Amino acid sequence: MFNFSKLSIPIIQAPMAGGINNPRLASQVSNAGGVGSFGFSYSTPQKISEDLVATRALTNGPINANFFVFSPVELPEQAIQEKAIEVIQSLPIEGEYLVSIPEAPFYPDIEEQLHPVWEHCPEILTFHFGIPPLSVIEKAHSLGIAVGITATSLKEAKVGEKAGADFIVAQGIEAGGHRGMFNPDEEDEKLSAIDLTKLLVGNCSIPIVAAGAIMDGIDIANALKSGAVAAQLGTAFLCCEESGASPAHKEYLLNHHIRGSVFTTGFSGRPARGINNEFIRMMEGKMVLPFPIQNTMTTSLRHLAGRTNNGEYQSLWAGEDYSRTRELNAQNLMLALKEELFIALS
Ligand SMILES: Cc1cc2nc3c(=O)[nH]c(=O)nc-3n(C[C@H](O)[C@H](O)[C@H](O)COP(=O)(O)O)c2cc1C
Repeated sequence: MFNFSKLSIPIIQAPMAGGINNPRLASQVSNAGGVGSFGFSYSTPQKISEDLVATRALTNGPINANFFVFSPVELPEQAIQEKAIEVIQSLPIEGEYLVSIPEAPFYPDIEEQLHPVWEHCPEILTFHFGIPPLSVIEKAHSLGIAVGITATSLKEAKVGEKAGADFIVAQGIEAGGHRGMFNPDEEDEKLSAIDLTKLLVGNCSIPIVAAGAIMDGIDIANALKSGAVAAQLGTAFLCCEESGASPAHKEYLLNHHIRGSVFTTGFSGRPARGINNEFIRMMEGKMVLPFPIQNTMTTSLRHLAGRTNNGEYQSLWAGEDYSRTRELNAQNLMLALKEELFIALS
């Protein structure tokens, strides 16, 4: 099974769904001694297969395939649907976009998405928002694939450990992107990455990977000193030349630091941390449909914003410390992180 101590640099480049991950980014990280990841939550089996094959052609290092564990969801009553549509339709953005309520199925079939994983066997398989069917964990193990589960609390980590996970990604409240809580309606303990890592290291018997606002080698050293076996960095990789983040996303990460990053449910229906923009402000207190129905409903709006390079209506997922994002290519970022880590630990 996967051995984190064999990594020449204990870094997982975070899975980031939505076109950010790609074979170039993942393979550069993996070739530099870390783990390159893919957020495949919304990807078709064909795309997953293509990405895994293309990445394997570029690296022999470890690859991580990541999926969301979607919970069954139903459309709310008609009046609520109409209200939610009206909210998105009345946003003050220039340009045409079509807002409609999606039809079931509201999310991809994970068993189908996993076919290419079983065929191409990346070293690691991770899940966000919960635990996959136990048969999936068993199948992964039978193929020698290590399974990781995101946890935001000790309770979730314990459930992951009991289900047979090989490691836990301890996601702190500072982390960019979707909060990985199994049930977002439960109370959020909002622990920092370091506090959560220490809590899990003290109470779990499987390895813990720290995630959340880890931006340089000093932060990685702090995560390791807290007992983590590795650090998972998302935001730090967004401005890499290889990253598929949109030009506006990169521009806001590098130059819009006063805004800060905040949680919103407006884009997808689940809490996610991103750079504060007009969309997030306009959606405060407004009707939002359940995840991922809201995500599908806002797709055409987000695509329009992408086409017109309008950062005010894109989901600019970013961790709390995004002002420290560096504009380096992945190889140079990995080199810088390695050097900083070495100095911090010596
Ligand atoms: C743009 C973006 C997209 C993300 N997408 C995913 C995802 O698809 N799956 C997942 O498990 N985590 C996802 N995350 C969360 C990361 O795994 C990780 O928890 C987070 O990036 C750590 O915080 P940082 O961004 O401050 O480094 C995403 C994060 C970002 C910034």
